[in-house]
Amino acid sequence: MIKQAIIPLAGLGTRLLPLTSVFAKELLPINGKPGIEYILDECIEAGIKEVIFIISKKKEMIKKYFYNDSFYKKIIKKKKDKRILKEYKKILKYKKMIKFVYQNKPMGTGDAVLKTRRFIKDNFFLMLLPDDLIIKKNCSKSMIKIQKNFKSGVIASMTVNKKDVSRWGIFDLKKKINRDNFFVQNVVEKPPIKKAPSNKAVIGRYILPKSIFKKLLKQKPGKGGEIHITDAIRSLIKDNQRFIAHNFSGKYLDCGTMNGYIKSAMEISKL
Ligand code: G1P
Repeated sequence: MIKQAIIPLAGLGTRLLPLTSVFAKELLPINGKPGIEYILDECIEAGIKEVIFIISKKKEMIKKYFYNDSFYKKIIKKKKDKRILKEYKKILKYKKMIKFVYQNKPMGTGDAVLKTRRFIKDNFFLMLLPDDLIIKKNCSKSMIKIQKNFKSGVIASMTVNKKDVSRWGIFDLKKKINRDNFFVQNVVEKPPIKKAPSNKAVIGRYILPKSIFKKLLKQKPGKGGEIHITDAIRSLIKDNQRFIAHNFSGKYLDCGTMNGYIKSAMEISKL
């Protein structure tokens, strides 16, 4: 079973400026709850026991959010507020399962993954990108089951508009397994429309084999001068590591752009 998850959180969040000029985007509330808590709840429900946060000096606010014990204790002593006590207990539960590592230069998702190398114990681990919320069905839980059955890597996938392919990692299929699962032939980071192998996009949930670290150590910067996880996955596929694309059945919410962030709050409030 997969027990460890990693969450890259060192990104600058420029798509959400001006909010992110002083605030970590992952702490922005979506219907009264910070985005990162939705992601943590997905992990817990999927059976994850340890979560590694990849932060930066600029994003230490995230660590503080989970380490404010003394503040809570003072308040709880003074005011016997049940809601605050409940929230504090929840934060303590999260804190117990989170480890922090640093990526001070934003050099891409692949570079962020590499920072967790020393902490990964098992052969496979989960990665969640915090901009991507998936509601109504636990995508991580479904992917963990698939990994268990096929002993392969897994990526979450969604068909996108052809005109938008250059916003995503795009993959093409090798073989259908069943209605929602396919073996992946190849994957490219944000291709121009003309070069895109399909309009099937990678969404921010990945089950990665430990062997990805060897690839990342050698990985040259790709699109935009960053080290991409997409490029390391392609390289593993070339070496015959199997990856399955899982068409998840939950609803995808893009919290990384201003429009998407606003829409997400509306969607979640309807739940
Ligand atoms: C990242 C990945 C991309 C993937 C996307 C999913 O891009 O690099 O392959 O399709 O997440 O949200 P970013 O959103 O960081 O630009």
